[in-house]
Amino acid sequence: MKLLRNSFIVCLLAAFLPMVAQNVEISTPGMSLLLKANVGENLKFVYFGERLSDADAASLREVEPARYDAYPAYGLNCPAEAAIAVRHADGNMTLDLKVSAVETDAQSDFTTTRIALRDREYPFAVTVCYKAYKTVDIIETWTEIVNSEKRPVLLNRFASAYLPIRRGEVWLSSLYGQWANEGRLCEEPLNPGMKVIKNKDGVRNSHTAHAEVMFSLDGKARENSGRVIGAALCYSGNYRLAIDTDESDWHHFFAGINEDNSTYNLQSGETFVTPPLAITYSNEGASGASRNFHKWARNYRLANGNRLRKILLNSWEGVYLDIKEPEMHQMMDDIASMGGELFVMDDGWFGDKYPRIKDNSSLGDWVVDRNKLPNGIDGLVAKAKSIGIDFGIWYEPEMSNTVSELYEKHPDWVIKAPKRDLQLGRGGTQVVLDLANPKVQDFIVGLFDELMTKHPGIDYVKWDANMDIRNHGSNYLTADSQSHLYIEYHRGFEAVCKRIRAKYPSLTIQACASGGGRANYGVLPYFDEFWVSDNTDALQRVYMQWGTSYFFPAIAMASHISATPNHTTFRSVPLKYRIDVAMSGRLGMEIQPKNMTDDEKALCRSAIAEYKQIRPIVQLGNIYRLVSPYDNKGLASLMYVDDAKQKSVFFWWKTEHFYNQHFPRATMAGLDPAKLYRVHELNRIDNEPLPFEGKTFSGEYLMNIGLEIPYNHNLDWHKRTDLSSRVLYLEAQ
Ligand code: GLA
Repeated sequence: MKLLRNSFIVCLLAAFLPMVAQNVEISTPGMSLLLKANVGENLKFVYFGERLSDADAASLREVEPARYDAYPAYGLNCPAEAAIAVRHADGNMTLDLKVSAVETDAQSDFTTTRIALRDREYPFAVTVCYKAYKTVDIIETWTEIVNSEKRPVLLNRFASAYLPIRRGEVWLSSLYGQWANEGRLCEEPLNPGMKVIKNKDGVRNSHTAHAEVMFSLDGKARENSGRVIGAALCYSGNYRLAIDTDESDWHHFFAGINEDNSTYNLQSGETFVTPPLAITYSNEGASGASRNFHKWARNYRLANGNRLRKILLNSWEGVYLDIKEPEMHQMMDDIASMGGELFVMDDGWFGDKYPRIKDNSSLGDWVVDRNKLPNGIDGLVAKAKSIGIDFGIWYEPEMSNTVSELYEKHPDWVIKAPKRDLQLGRGGTQVVLDLANPKVQDFIVGLFDELMTKHPGIDYVKWDANMDIRNHGSNYLTADSQSHLYIEYHRGFEAVCKRIRAKYPSLTIQACASGGGRANYGVLPYFDEFWVSDNTDALQRVYMQWGTSYFFPAIAMASHISATPNHTTFRSVPLKYRIDVAMSGRLGMEIQPKNMTDDEKALCRSAIAEYKQIRPIVQLGNIYRLVSPYDNKGLASLMYVDDAKQKSVFFWWKTEHFYNQHFPRATMAGLDPAKLYRVHELNRIDNEPLPFEGKTFSGEYLMNIGLEIPYNHNLDWHKRTDLSSRVLYLEAQ
């Protein structure tokens, strides 16, 4: 109603005062975005950053020339980069977008501002939308592109958003990597030229680069001071982030779907909605921007974002595809005896005509292999319940193998270009199903529903996706919409997720995609967490989880204790260190417990008990990164603090080990300087307690001076190890 009333007023204004000046201010508790939206003129960007007082905002508006359009269109200023570029049906390549209306709609948690732009000559419109949260410093911005022309309009460029960032000493922080080395942090100054961060995998989008970035406005980002702008594109498919540092005083930042081989024919009457870009600002450094993303995620953008996650054992690195009922029972008994709460059976449980013995068959044939599991899933669920834990299962529903009953029945359901050979993935037989096809969507939803209806005891699903799109071709899409394949795949995927979530809102679902291929805010509204990487080596995880924490909260980062030597890096890492790293995220295990000694099991048992105490602080608390592993000081350290600044957990991990090496003293952050905190070491293995065990220190002392952490563990000679680590629990008295 309010929306209607506002839009009515705005329409009236537009009708009677066509040149009325409209100063649009979009704000959150700590941020302001100022725009000039004069009806009949271009929409102009004025300012984005620290929240301004009314007086400063008014003065700034007077002095700021507002040179840049808030959503620049191609055609009448050709040399500049554009957020949108089209070809009208008559061949005209230009757009001339003018503000026609401004609407605001205030809800309890956020206010949405919609600024309608209309072309002066063509019935073609773009609405630029901003959703500003009231309790967290995030604005989501996206566009709705409407073709009211009689014939299709070709969209060549269709960014979600554009943001000019004033030049100065701006540095970019972004993530890069590859399979088994995801989430690496890259920090670089923005120099003249075009910096492009992109993905073209088709299915997964975060193994290599990520669709999230931070801009530090004051030189190389510091963790706990300095001004930082953050941006996260909420999309699961191919994306493109581009920063054009041209001859002007500004960096021009564009973010959206990657248009490469994805030009879009917008039909008459059709609306194209771009995925949102979430932007944030903090004057508390990169950790401050991370806290904004994390809070927004937990409250608005992550499935069940405020519900504590269970401690689980996943079977993959323990038995790989060699699933057998007795082993599953044994693993369940072991995790239950260590205090775990959930067991997840990974790949290898399915296939009738083609049992999944190797990774070259059976995807799509989601029926239990009775040879491996004579009592089926129900038998496993019953076993889990009988020992007081929950049961979860692995599933890769978007895929098939050419060796499968599904492929035999529906060869036309796979992504493939006509007249071309299939390009095959994992096992030499894997193929991707065409999620553009509604029948494929129905099939996946039906399968999921059947699995959950038949086995209501399933508490957790690990949803995997282990292939990219290699063949550009859809049997379902028409010849003139083949370029929509990547976009339609992700629309189909999202439609499937929405239908599943509508029926199963509280099921826990993990987004896995060959490890960390789906750490993105496009999928997270439907998934509770993601698998950070197939690489579980604790030392390498320090680096990967550090980078990932820039944008994603610990509650979403699955982090497992695995065997030594590690199965990917073959590095031997002490069990305590493996535990201490896994405990800084969503703790789990990925190991065959029957190969562990009693002492190792006992250490895990006590760690799990201690994790239960600190779980709310890690999973729901605020992150403060302290010493970066990327600064090569031989050390990494971070901490989580609860909202009340009463309780905190401090993590300290060596990343190198040399004799007589010197480490910096890690000073803390985020505490209340006036409070007194008692220090207690968790996961202690040393013969003697730390000198400061049980002692109290003021927040001020801990943040200005810090504790001197012994570099090595005090153990009997034959038990000594190289990499050491500490976890400290601090509680205000
Ligand atoms: C992917 C996942 C792994 C595991 C395997 C199973 O690689 O990332 O965790 O589930 O598939 O095939």
